[in-house]
Amino acid sequence: MRIQLKSREEIRLQRESGLVAASILDDMCKAAKPGVSTWDLDRMARAGIDKHAKAIEAKIYECARAFARGKPPLEMVELAKTFSGVRDITPETTTAKVDDIVRGEIDQHTVKSAFLNYAYPPYPAVVCTSINEVIVHGIPRKNEVLRDGDVIGIDFGIFMHGLCADTARTVMIGNVSPANRKLVETTEKCLDVAIDLCRVGNRIGDLGAAVEKYAKTHGYSVVTKFVGHGTGRQMHEDPQVPNFGTAGSGKRLKSGLVIAVEPMVNAGAPDVETLDDQWTAVTKDRSMSAHFEHTIAILDEGPWVLTRPTSTPGNP
Ligand code: MF3
Ligand code: CO
Ligand code: CO
Repeated sequence: MRIQLKSREEIRLQRESGLVAASILDDMCKAAKPGVSTWDLDRMARAGIDKHAKAIEAKIYECARAFARGKPPLEMVELAKTFSGVRDITPETTTAKVDDIVRGEIDQHTVKSAFLNYAYPPYPAVVCTSINEVIVHGIPRKNEVLRDGDVIGIDFGIFMHGLCADTARTVMIGNVSPANRKLVETTEKCLDVAIDLCRVGNRIGDLGAAVEKYAKTHGYSVVTKFVGHGTGRQMHEDPQVPNFGTAGSGKRLKSGLVIAVEPMVNAGAPDVETLDDQWTAVTKDRSMSAHFEHTIAILDEGPWVLTRPTSTPGNP
């Protein structure tokens, strides 16, 4: 698929998606404590999706009702810029037609999991929970309970307004060894190093080279089997965004490009093994691994980290 550059309006909507994803991920990170199962985290995320979906559905109904009454207040006219089908509704519109329009708008704008049933075999959860030597794509399980000293990568993605937000963090549970703490902190720093390079005119290879160098300088390896990616109407769009490579190589970053940057850093070797469930990716040497991810819009003014609430256009 060719690279899909986004309009300013699409990026505004993808930011809303990013904020919802970030808020649900944050709830999971706060809940991740010894004794909590990865299944509990998945249930939490599903509840978060439902809550945000209901809220947006209620807004669409309210907006449609205001148009059906006639002379909608300014606030509803504003909302109808996003839910544009609603603008066709007048007091003359039949109830059946109103319902039709509302259903269509809900379909386009509501919140859905980006992960559930993804690919083959269909991914069975709304979150990936990757503990210790699991790199990514760990499946939540009832009998998998967090313990003191664990590190857990929590990766969460949604579609809202039909636009994907994909974001992950590695959380330290209780007292984590200094070595594991350093791995997690270095991986987070790798992401920040890459985000700073998300500027028009830089190249994809610049990001990978910087991440690889930062990780290796600290004695770690980067995973090459999985890469970051463009993200938008599809979770995984072009271009691929590797965590390795050569500065000055690869495609140039353009204004309107939205990418998910996601360093996966191993304490040992970079090699990956996939478990029998066909999803769980572990380090072949069973060394520890960490993962951080943000969805980032590249704008003329600089990076906008769509999944970081404090970020503004040009201020990561
Ligand atoms: N969110 C992952 C990524 O960062 C992909 C998850 S695959 C799924 O690209 F099956 F879990 F959805
Ligand atoms: Co992800
Ligand atoms: Co991703």
